[in-house]
Amino acid sequence: MKAGIFYHGYYGSTAQYAQWLANDTGYPTFDLQKNNNELDPSDFDLLILGSSVRINKLTIRNWIKENWPKIREKKIIFFSVSGTAPGHPDLEKYLADSLPQEMIDRMDYIPLRGRLIVKELSWGIRLLLWFGSLVEKDPEAKQRMRTGFDFVDEQNIKPLIRAIATHTVSS
Ligand SMILES: Cc1cc2nc3c(=O)[nH]c(=O)nc-3n(C[C@H](O)[C@H](O)[C@H](O)COP(=O)(O)O)c2cc1C
Repeated sequence: MKAGIFYHGYYGSTAQYAQWLANDTGYPTFDLQKNNNELDPSDFDLLILGSSVRINKLTIRNWIKENWPKIREKKIIFFSVSGTAPGHPDLEKYLADSLPQEMIDRMDYIPLRGRLIVKELSWGIRLLLWFGSLVEKDPEAKQRMRTGFDFVDEQNIKPLIRAIATHTVSS
């Protein structure tokens, strides 16, 4: 079985999880922000897709939609990386607002928590987050958007490793 880790993020936390997964599994990683002209997802049997969340959407959504005809019959494990905690109902909304239900239904979904270091962001993004925090109703999310957070932890990949093991054993 040929497997690969395909990820899309901006500030390094999705990349960090992808790298830890690669260290653990030996699968290659592909940064979808880079030029991947040679990359053909049809060559893979198992795709592990990772995406950051930005303004209520999965940043990988366009890549998934564009490549869906090539990957729809493959095994897909999908992880999101967000400020929102696993189990929070907003995560379901991010998925539903980013991808058609048909695609969501074909994936094993595992949410992970990421990192936001405010001083590393551009002024434009800081301003965007500040205005977002003014209209945010959830006090915890409001605080996160203003002060940043760091929930990135290698232990968080354990459920992903278990999901990968299930797929590779049953093939
Ligand atoms: C401009 C911006 C918008 C964001 N919007 C959301 C959001 O709507 N919901 C959420 O849970 N996290 C949100 N986040 C937090 C990111 O999902 C989190 O920082 C994640 O770790 C980023 O992944 P990356 O480091 O791979 O880019 C946002 C972060 C930024 C910078």
